[in-house]
Amino acid sequence: MKIAIIGATGLVGRKIINLLEEYFSADTSYTFFASSKSKGSELKINGNKLIVQELIDNNISEFDIALFSAGSERSKEFAKKFIDQGAYVIDNSSAFRHEHHVPLVVYGINEETISSSTKLIANPNCTTMGLVMVLKPLHDKFNLKSITPVAYQAVSGSGTQAVDSLNREIEMGDNLNVNYTEGFYSRPIAKNVIPVAGNLLDNGYSDEEMKFVNESRKILSIDDLIVEPSNARVGVKTGHGTFCSAVFESEINRETAIDAINNFDGVEYWDNLLPTPLDAEGRKNVLVSRMREGISSKKILNFWVVSDNLLKGAALNAVQIAKYVSQL
Ligand SMILES: NC(=O)c1ccc[n+]([C@@H]2O[C@H](COP(=O)([O-])OP(=O)(O)OC[C@H]3O[C@@H](n4cnc5c(N)ncnc54)[C@H](OP(=O)(O)O)[C@@H]3O)[C@@H](O)[C@H]2O)c1
Repeated sequence: MKIAIIGATGLVGRKIINLLEEYFSADTSYTFFASSKSKGSELKINGNKLIVQELIDNNISEFDIALFSAGSERSKEFAKKFIDQGAYVIDNSSAFRHEHHVPLVVYGINEETISSSTKLIANPNCTTMGLVMVLKPLHDKFNLKSITPVAYQAVSGSGTQAVDSLNREIEMGDNLNVNYTEGFYSRPIAKNVIPVAGNLLDNGYSDEEMKFVNESRKILSIDDLIVEPSNARVGVKTGHGTFCSAVFESEINRETAIDAINNFDGVEYWDNLLPTPLDAEGRKNVLVSRMREGISSKKILNFWVVSDNLLKGAALNAVQIAKYVSQL
């Protein structure tokens, strides 16, 4: 088995390396790709040092699986080249998520949409991924009609440069104030909440908010799902949190909802301790709490979801898909 990791030096790429050690046998062969900046640097896998290669045509050869986490532009330019050499491409970027013929896969929900002839598989956006892991068992019980998610997105969702910027701002202590303009985001993020995540679009919503709309519909196969999203960026390093109000066709029961969640692999309900991003960081499971029946209707559930955006939100899901396709 030969696996290529594109964007191996990034936040997601490094998590992928750790998970591959766990999910694949030690005799798997790996090649690491990154930008010219990282060419020649070393990263370890299974105790072996590997030299990082620059992502250029001449370095592309035959692989069984290629895991892309190097931004949309690289995926658009290079995914097909790896597929032409026989690889399954699992792409963490948003490049292909909306293409009709490309499955948008959350392992545990819809991996059966992949067949041996599906060579390109899109990994969903990190905020949507955590939420749909909770919505799926609830939908199966009560039939989901609409959601109003309000997300608190962590800084590591924006990559290495954003985390470096957060750390610099934290080090500034009380010298950081509202006039600081040197950071990764347009406003200071340490000790702060920016009431938008991602880029604003012509409709007034951000691209991150529209990912909730489009990706949840595709993953859950509910074309007419009503989604009313609001996403903020918060001064948290890792762990996206979302409050969600969900409306169902059937009347719901809180205990049945919690049982359904706890019986779904990859999700767990916390009753006493309220899970925070710090609790989620490093955990594979999506954490849920504060489940409440609606005040105005018995068809509403209100709850909190938090998950590690680099794990189930990116690297873990990609590696779970890689394991799945390796067995097709
Ligand atoms: N962070 C998350 O929570 C998350 C979640 C879901 C999806 N994603 C997606 O995953 C991808 C990576 O995110 P990240 O957070 O890991 O970002 P990151 O920490 O900034 O890492 C970016 C990676 O892409 C590589 N890269 C950049 N330009 C390149 C080029 N011209 N040629 C080859 N490689 C290049 C970088 O290599 P160098 O080190 O050499 O620059 C690095 O390995 C993005 O597409 C992102 O949208 C991220």
